[in-house]
Amino acid sequence: MVNTKVTLCGLELDNPVIPASGTFGYGEEFAALYDINMLGSFSFKGTTREPRFGNPTPRIAECSEGMLNSVGLQNPGIDEVVGTILPQMKAYFHKPVIANIGGFSVEEYVDCAKKADGADNVGWIEVNISCPNVHGGGLSFGTSPAAAAEVTAAVKAVCKKPVIMKLSPNVTNIAEIAAACETAGADGVSLINTLLGMRIDLKRRKPILANKTGGFSGPAVFPVALRMVYEVWEAVKIPIVGMGGVQSARDVLEMILAGATAVQVGAANLREPMVCKTIVEELPRLMASLGISDLSEIRGASHG
Ligand code: SIN
Repeated sequence: MVNTKVTLCGLELDNPVIPASGTFGYGEEFAALYDINMLGSFSFKGTTREPRFGNPTPRIAECSEGMLNSVGLQNPGIDEVVGTILPQMKAYFHKPVIANIGGFSVEEYVDCAKKADGADNVGWIEVNISCPNVHGGGLSFGTSPAAAAEVTAAVKAVCKKPVIMKLSPNVTNIAEIAAACETAGADGVSLINTLLGMRIDLKRRKPILANKTGGFSGPAVFPVALRMVYEVWEAVKIPIVGMGGVQSARDVLEMILAGATAVQVGAANLREPMVCKTIVEELPRLMASLGISDLSEIRGASHG
């Protein structure tokens, strides 16, 4: 028998597999396809203080081995999520969920964090300081160590639950940002959000996305994400949630070997809605075939 359980910032998960924010909504549509209680947890759609319609369309562009999105944090707002969606979620998801929150100011992050922290089925607060698709928020807090630290400290001051800072790959030194978050009190970091990219329509000779640029995700980014998790593991002691192009149990084990405690699966959910179920089922078989009885045996083992 192998043990797939992991502990993320003090809370035990049955396995490290977590659908990433923005690829799983609030879980309801996926709960109609399979019992999502088999997951470690999931991270719900990035939620802001006010409801947001998101960016103009087109906001998706296909790429080989991945996709671009410029959704722009479309969501119903934190009051609707805390007042209606989270209570309804208890009917189909019986585990603590990760509350992913976004913001355009430190005060907005604080307001959202405080409200999410008060919901009894929220286990962790994941703070998105890395959305590349909005102006004046998101990424602007995630590309400077000082700004990342300021948001971290402000959110930590109002939360009883573990705070995980979601980091951007669109920086020169992601380890420096992770270390700044740790020093400011973060309980964990998650990485990577999407890579800033674009495509151009040959006939119109203009960018395909109405927002011009978008976030690139999918299997092509996996080696970049893995390298960044590896670098961050060498810079911090707090748990790392690895993500970026993960689509198989093999990718999950690579992320854990690089130093991740848990692993999020993003764009793969959009192409194959059952992918997380498949990974959860495949993981113990792959561990057994490799002689791994517990994931703690291999965490960070690729270093040195
Ligand atoms: C979006 O809603 O634009 C995607 C969220 C993100 O990349 O952080």
